[in-house]
Amino acid sequence: MAGSPEGRLSVAMVEVAEGHQEAFVEIAREFSAIMARKGYGRADIVRDETSPNTFYAVRHWASATAAESCHADQEIQALTGRLYQISRVTHVVNGVRRTDSMRLMLDDRRARVEPDRRSGFDRRVRDVGRSDGDRRKGDRRLGPRRTRGRGNELDLVSAARRARENADARFSNFKVGAALETADGTVITGCNIENATYGLTICAERVAMFKAISEGHRVFTRIAIVADTPALTPPCGACRQILWEFGGNLEIVLANLSAERATHRLKTLLPLPFDARLL
Ligand code: THU
Repeated sequence: MAGSPEGRLSVAMVEVAEGHQEAFVEIAREFSAIMARKGYGRADIVRDETSPNTFYAVRHWASATAAESCHADQEIQALTGRLYQISRVTHVVNGVRRTDSMRLMLDDRRARVEPDRRSGFDRRVRDVGRSDGDRRKGDRRLGPRRTRGRGNELDLVSAARRARENADARFSNFKVGAALETADGTVITGCNIENATYGLTICAERVAMFKAISEGHRVFTRIAIVADTPALTPPCGACRQILWEFGGNLEIVLANLSAERATHRLKTLLPLPFDARLL
């Protein structure tokens, strides 16, 4: 499988919260069983010998299509939701990402943006989503569509909540977490990091986006932003600009540590945006 020309490998580092190792092992066992039963491929867990709470989830996909079907699988999504509640997941190798001409086209931002006057999300990728801001019924992957339910939104919020715990907000004490979802379903998190000169502080949203860009992601669908305040925290102006330029008309899920949440489209938070089309 792994050695076949079509076979793809994904590796994620999973840092399990203290006291949840058993739950993690159970989730990994179920994940592996579903992958085998449904022919998606094989899943192995490798323990990091130097850190008892760190594991590597290695997935050998039968094919890129199998990987996409697996990501779209409701059972797998439910398990992934459970995983995000107890761990932080960092994708180390994403063997499912397309490396074809489609992707090269996405990388060539300037060449693509200038002749194309469509706005936001729609101008970044031609066959994902709609520009009208409606919630898409299908998924945000480049492959088969999938239905996205509320559970999925909760997962992204859970990931943002966990990321918030890493915030270094020693001057404002205002901790923020963000979780950015890519078109292939990868979740990349960020937290705010403050600085003694104050001005060099960076918000959670920009950390998430810059991490994602630096890891090669170029197509995004949603971002969850979490702070611990009764009034939900929307992205600041600078973040709106960065999210727009790199993510287009993202779905913005705002949440706090209770059940409170709201969903917006970036276009409505940043009307009349400036971007490369105007250069
Ligand atoms: N902050 C964010 O990280 N994201 C937002 O959307 C709003 C503000 C951070 C920046 C700073 O570290 C702290 O919150 C107070 O402004």
